[in-house]
Amino acid sequence: MALIAQSSIQAVIDACDMIEVVAPYSTLKKSGANYMGRCPFHGEKTPSFSVDPGQKLYYCFGCGEGGNVFTFIEKKEGLDFADAVKMLADKYGVRLQYEASSPEQENRRQERERLLALLDQAATYYSRCLLESSQAAPARQYLGNRGFKEPVIREFRLGFSPAGGSALLKAATGKGFTETELSRAGLIIQRDASSRDRFRGRLMFPFTDHRGRVLGFGARVLDDSKPKYLNSPDSELYHKTNLVFGLGNARTMITKEDRVFIVEGYTDVLALHQAGIVNAVASMGTALTEQQLKEISRFTRNVYLAFDADAAGQAAMLRALELAKKHNLAVRVVKMPPGQDPAELVLSEDGLRSFNELGSAAPTLLEYQVQTTLSSSGIDSSQGRVRAFASLKNVLDGAASSMERDEQLRIIADRLRLSPENVAYLMKSAPSNDDNEDGGTRRRVLTHEEIAERSFLSLCLANPGEARRYLQLMTEAHFTNEQTRAAFIWVREKLDEKNSGSGNNEQRLVMDRNAREILPELLIRSRTGSTPPEALTEYYFRLCEAELSRRISVIKATVSEGKDTGSELRELYRLETRRRDIIRLIQSGSCETV
Ligand code: CTP
Ligand code: MN
Repeated sequence: MALIAQSSIQAVIDACDMIEVVAPYSTLKKSGANYMGRCPFHGEKTPSFSVDPGQKLYYCFGCGEGGNVFTFIEKKEGLDFADAVKMLADKYGVRLQYEASSPEQENRRQERERLLALLDQAATYYSRCLLESSQAAPARQYLGNRGFKEPVIREFRLGFSPAGGSALLKAATGKGFTETELSRAGLIIQRDASSRDRFRGRLMFPFTDHRGRVLGFGARVLDDSKPKYLNSPDSELYHKTNLVFGLGNARTMITKEDRVFIVEGYTDVLALHQAGIVNAVASMGTALTEQQLKEISRFTRNVYLAFDADAAGQAAMLRALELAKKHNLAVRVVKMPPGQDPAELVLSEDGLRSFNELGSAAPTLLEYQVQTTLSSSGIDSSQGRVRAFASLKNVLDGAASSMERDEQLRIIADRLRLSPENVAYLMKSAPSNDDNEDGGTRRRVLTHEEIAERSFLSLCLANPGEARRYLQLMTEAHFTNEQTRAAFIWVREKLDEKNSGSGNNEQRLVMDRNAREILPELLIRSRTGSTPPEALTEYYFRLCEAELSRRISVIKATVSEGKDTGSELRELYRLETRRRDIIRLIQSGSCETV
């Protein structure tokens, strides 16, 4: 895809009204130069989300989320960068220009476009067959018998592949597509002598990406023959492990409701949509993959698993637990009645109400595991209690928060009538990730060094006159990670440019990923900070001291490896002396006189 020109990106930033962009997600009130409101990225009661309308940045003092107009839209709408730029360009009437691309890039882009066009036309072809051809009468009948109505059939562009052997092949080559293209799109099987349609006499479910573009197909037989489903082979466009069925149809509602139902089958998604539960997608079988969860987590962190109540479904849920912890998702289990899948349930009499009830009563994955372990271990016998006790320890280790673990522990203690010693044993479960008890995004734990580096840089932004002199004396070695180093360079240049009056470099925020991670925080802190300006000097010396200590430990390590020389020891002595002087200076509180 061609790159959006830097000048266009800047034009979009210039045209945006940051307050207006944030308004749909949080009610903002003016507070000094900035605006404050409740954070749209984590649940909170008192506002700690700050928006700077001038620099068009936001930062939450509670959860640490920060960024510019684009990251805001990316996160809230689940878009990638280019789509976020496009959306804001549309909203503010900016015409985007694109960087010229190399001939090879242009070639690849065109090839891709053609494959996408081919797949889209194939979907239209199958869909027309289903709706119009006499051959597809049994398919229409089948869908009707299962309770699927025309609107949902059209929305998901269901189709029918003619039985013959080359109906699609003929239609597509007639439109100028080559056999090679058809094969690359997974639509035909190429043989030496002749090629033929991959899908014949089947009900077609188009696989679309989150933007609704067709990437492949799932094809179901109309009877009980095997295989029940024949799916597109992996191709340059379609990767089975990445695809989340129905995401394009569901994403708006997923964002709006801030939760998603994940079911196993295509037909489950269709049935739920038809019943009005639009925020549903399918994992395409039970093996929910990490890529699928990642894709889904762009839209919401609240995941409701509505898998079939069989062994495969259970195993899938346990796997989901691990992935969910890794990606900081809150997973609940919608317990299907035995022998029913979500499609059967919602299409049955009063089924929608039952599904909704199961949804609102859905236990967390941990609760669910505790319940299943308790009910499957036969805890009326002492043997059963021992069994349950042993497996519950592992279950509790998987808790996402200590609050949740303690609550489950109380339930377990009660049900198993545990002694205080036993409870204490279970309590020793691995301590869990406790940083987001109020349902927010996970905040990274910062080192002391990092906190000091960030404070120093935001004080620099607040006191440019004084800061310039310190910044010139410093190097990247004064900063301990990529982000603060990138921010240091950015701040130093910014203050320099101001000096020579050559405008600002805010637009580089868009470019440097590392700096972009923390600059919004620094810039917003610099305007709202309550730290006295004298602190700048103290922080400067703290960073110098930390840098010296790091150098000292490096030298000590080489000396202790025995590679000593006099010069190293002399250097060590020199650094130690300087470090001690600095420490004395900081402790005396007289930094200001330096
Ligand atoms: N699946 C598949 N290939 C198969 C069987 C299943 O890809 N041979 C995937 C499909 O994504 C399917 C899901 O697993 O939708 C769930 O399987 P199943 O419950 O058997 O299918 P349903 O979609 O529920 O189909 P139906 O209700 O029509 O039987
Ligand atoms: Mn099913």
